[in-house]
Amino acid sequence: MRLQLATWPAVEAYLARSRAVILPIGSTEQHGPTGLSGTDALCAEAIAWRVGERLQTMVAPTLAVGMAQHHMRFAGSMTLRPSTLLALVTDCLLSLARHGFERVAVINGHGGNAATVQAAFAETQMALDAWTPRPDQRLRLYNWWEMPRVVDLSHDLYGDAVGSHATPPEVAVTWALHPEAADHRVLAPRVAPRDGFSGADDFRRRFPDGRIGSDPSLATAEHGERLLACATAEIASLADNFFKAE
Ligand code: NI
Repeated sequence: MRLQLATWPAVEAYLARSRAVILPIGSTEQHGPTGLSGTDALCAEAIAWRVGERLQTMVAPTLAVGMAQHHMRFAGSMTLRPSTLLALVTDCLLSLARHGFERVAVINGHGGNAATVQAAFAETQMALDAWTPRPDQRLRLYNWWEMPRVVDLSHDLYGDAVGSHATPPEVAVTWALHPEAADHRVLAPRVAPRDGFSGADDFRRRFPDGRIGSDPSLATAEHGERLLACATAEIASLADNFFKAE
């Protein structure tokens, strides 16, 4: 059930039986020489659609641009300022609240969004304090790649080559969704360096091909299907309890 594909009477009918909604959020940023720029949004969206199907829950449009300022030295990356993302997510959450969506599961595909999404939850709750009646709004963030069973499966498949950016799990998911994009070329060094960084120029200097600590050449579409199934099952089970909680 996708909000974009529903008429307003259909949304109204849905709200008569459910107050739950899923909001996918990602990023549009470089993912190394072989990963798609839309990786974070594509992963979050695919998992959100599958969770929505499993739980018969409405899925809102994907927020496909996030906070990616440290990727801006690579062609095609797009970023919002933290204050813009905070305003964007807060306005979307307040819009959903206006209609009676009182349980919102945000499925996130990008680490750089997490702190700001949590801040948007606080902004939203504070704004709702001025509403009468005050909705019983509950907001929950699921970072798909951090779900414990997804972490275990990622480690089983790739060991220490998971890394933290342009990771084989996220690349595998995009290749499951878009098999024509699969690019298994071996990169040098095979496993990218891992380190801290400070800003976009420093990122480019330390991680010249865009990867951090990862070997995405290990990814396969078949792994991607397994990771999608794992993330869907784990998040669906948690979100089902969250949606039903009084
Ligand atoms: Ni990513």
